[in-house]
Amino acid sequence: MPHISQAAQALPPSGIRKFFDLVASTEGVISLGVGEPDFFTPWALREAAIYSIEKGRTTYTSNYGLLELRERIAGHIFDHYQVEYDPAEEILATVGVSEGMDLAMRVILNPGDEVLVPQPCYVSYEPCVFMAGGVPVGIPTSPAEQFLPTLAQLEGALSRRTKAILLGYPSNPTGAIMPRKRIEEIVAFAQKHDLYLISDEIYDRLTYDGTHTCVSSVPGAKERTILLNGFSKAYAMTGWRLGYACAPRDVLAAMVKIHSYTIISAPIMAQRAGIEALKSGEPAVREMFDHYNRRRRLIVAGLSDIGLECHLPQGAFYAFPEIEVTGLTSEEFAEKLLFEEKVAVVPGTAFGMGGEGHVRCSYATSIDKIETALVRMRRFVDKYRDARTSHSTLARTVAGAAR
Ligand SMILES: Cc1ncc(COP(=O)(O)O)c(C=O)c1O
Repeated sequence: MPHISQAAQALPPSGIRKFFDLVASTEGVISLGVGEPDFFTPWALREAAIYSIEKGRTTYTSNYGLLELRERIAGHIFDHYQVEYDPAEEILATVGVSEGMDLAMRVILNPGDEVLVPQPCYVSYEPCVFMAGGVPVGIPTSPAEQFLPTLAQLEGALSRRTKAILLGYPSNPTGAIMPRKRIEEIVAFAQKHDLYLISDEIYDRLTYDGTHTCVSSVPGAKERTILLNGFSKAYAMTGWRLGYACAPRDVLAAMVKIHSYTIISAPIMAQRAGIEALKSGEPAVREMFDHYNRRRRLIVAGLSDIGLECHLPQGAFYAFPEIEVTGLTSEEFAEKLLFEEKVAVVPGTAFGMGGEGHVRCSYATSIDKIETALVRMRRFVDKYRDARTSHSTLARTVAGAAR
């Protein structure tokens, strides 16, 4: 039997998937695990796709995607961020941000090129760099720095081989957003060292505090930025597999080449739904936003009340509390919480450096479920904190008696 490639063997399985296989086989679980809206795709969007099928519009499209979709994407980006992208040559409809990220890495990296990746971060970033022959260089971030990389850290991680910086804000899993000033500094840094910027802005519309700055809107950024976004989160369209990449012409042309061989085109029905999303989806986006925002306040207050300190997530739909009071590692916490209280959260270690000592709790679920999960988590945390306190009291007594 021949062997699968060394690269495929070396790739670790996703820390999230592994955990979810476990959740699926346990009954009565409240899941704060999945990073997926709990809303249906708005009806008008579903109808647009149904209509497409009814009318027999079930073919491949241009490799770039339907021109109408690209025009609407260009309009959407301009309306929100005043950045101009040419729908003819600077926008590609992708199979989610997932494909966009893979393409981005494949077109910019030569073997051994390094990509600076602030962490904790979305689980696909490092594997995409790695699969493209690159070397991910993790930059650990912490709550003390609002989970943002500092310029000093970027300087320190720079080498002759550094080719790009990968940014993902609002962040999965920390909920951090990157203020405009920090983006400006990073853009200046990228200019100085001639680096690409890859920006995954899939949660841009879920920014609760402050405003989202699109990386390519910062002067000097657009010509070195590959901007990735998609419909999965804001429009509750995870299963449709639709996203887009915006990049300078030459970069985009290279991405289209690979896309045309591996994908051909994003599914036409999804593209039709995407057009409708950009035409009429705004009220639904706002409505879902309001729900997430209410849930965010509830979960952050609840976790803090339990004694799990939580940096206020300003975007996306995740809380990333510290769990050190329990004396458990993040894997132990997640596993024991699942088995003992039937609440699923994701261990922070699934998201790379800086993840230990945290778990990710998604609040893309109903208020009722969040409330019940918080009751169960309180019981769980109290138990381990009390055990820890009595253990250390006992240890002090024993040590005192021995003196
Ligand atoms: C930060 C981030 N980027 C990308 C993705 C994947 O997006 P898509 O469904 O568009 O492939 C996710 C999904 O959870 C995500 O959280």
